[in-house]
Amino acid sequence: MSAPTELLISNIGRLATMNGEGAVLRDVAVLCAEGRVVYVGPESGVPAASRVRERLDAGGRAVLPGLVDCHTHLVFAGDRRDEFALRCSGATYAEIHAQGGGIVRTMRLTRDASEEELLLTAIRRAAAMVMRGVTTLEIKSGYGLSLDAELKQLRVARAIEDHLPVRVITTFLGGHSVPPEYRDRRADYIDLVCNEMIPRVVEEGLATFCDVFCEERVFSIAESERILLVAKAHGLGVKLHADQLTRTGAARLGVALGAVSVDHLEQITAEDVALLGAHPETVAVLLPASVLFLRSQTYPPGRALVDAGATVAISTDLNPGSSMCDDLPLMTTLGCTSLGLTPSEALRAVTAGAAAALGQGGHLGCVTLGAAADLLVVGADHEEALPYRFGRVAPHAVVSAGRVVVGPGLVPLGPPVTLSRARREA
Ligand code: NIG
Ligand code: FE
Repeated sequence: MSAPTELLISNIGRLATMNGEGAVLRDVAVLCAEGRVVYVGPESGVPAASRVRERLDAGGRAVLPGLVDCHTHLVFAGDRRDEFALRCSGATYAEIHAQGGGIVRTMRLTRDASEEELLLTAIRRAAAMVMRGVTTLEIKSGYGLSLDAELKQLRVARAIEDHLPVRVITTFLGGHSVPPEYRDRRADYIDLVCNEMIPRVVEEGLATFCDVFCEERVFSIAESERILLVAKAHGLGVKLHADQLTRTGAARLGVALGAVSVDHLEQITAEDVALLGAHPETVAVLLPASVLFLRSQTYPPGRALVDAGATVAISTDLNPGSSMCDDLPLMTTLGCTSLGLTPSEALRAVTAGAAAALGQGGHLGCVTLGAAADLLVVGADHEEALPYRFGRVAPHAVVSAGRVVVGPGLVPLGPPVTLSRARREA
């Protein structure tokens, strides 16, 4: 990201801070300097000493923290449109996976793709998200499933920040599926993940977190625990794809390991809900688009989780198989209609809740003194227009690290990616 400037956002009708109890301030201004929020209050109180170089008139509109998409598989090649068609005719995700479709198909295409090709499509996807108000994006590997291909995916994810004004936080997901060449020796694959992949990922500084798809016929509780303990020992934070298709007890494992988040949770029990309520430090990340897209009837118990005191986040789960969706504002609508959250709880889930799921609570996903100056000027005078209007409210402006990166006549473009000669000729 390029150097921040001093920016005054004036004439804010409503500022949904997402701090503490979620104060909404009326008729305020926000001053940003050095990429951080340095003043929030009436415009008349803006520090006299400040030398404002740039102004953004919010025109009485609502302002939210920049949105945080805390669970995506955004770097991949190809698509799986045909699998969607099969599901529309009654096939299940698990059946398609068992027949060699699913994650392994995207793995083959991703292994074959060059780093530049992957980067081009990833930038395109990420830019579409920034245009909707996303200022932080978590991206997982997990379509490489070999040392080189996992490192390639993570390098591409990291490189997005060089081309777009968005923060990228990366997660190593070598435990996404056992690749076909290890089908009959899965223990060897887990050894590879633990003994080679994790150390290299850490050595090259390519990930903050490690995640595992803990699921029947994917990775067991014992296998997931082994991988995550190694990850922790190497200093990575821990996440889990937990209790998505079957109730494996992965959410409980996540809490026991001090995971920063457990994600999916469609199949969790009342006891699991109570446990997550008692452990708000392990964020419950809910992914309603994947439930919709898989044609499942079972949404995770969002209302019960909030009532139990859990920290709840909502994300797109953008991936070519179970959730080909890049629309985080639309997820706030599903958060209300399918998870039973109120509009204000759903907005909290894509800001403060999602930031907590990335270990960034108090720094991202809230508007407070000292926090990152990432803001979304909603294209409406009330922030709840976002869930209410079904993904139809485009931002008036997006501010990333104290710079206006989306606004009237302004789109988030960085340096172009050039395809190598060999590729252009191919
Ligand atoms: O979060 N559940 C596992 N992983 C992804 C799906 C990945 C894929 O199907 O390609 C998910 O839903
Ligand atoms: Fe996922």
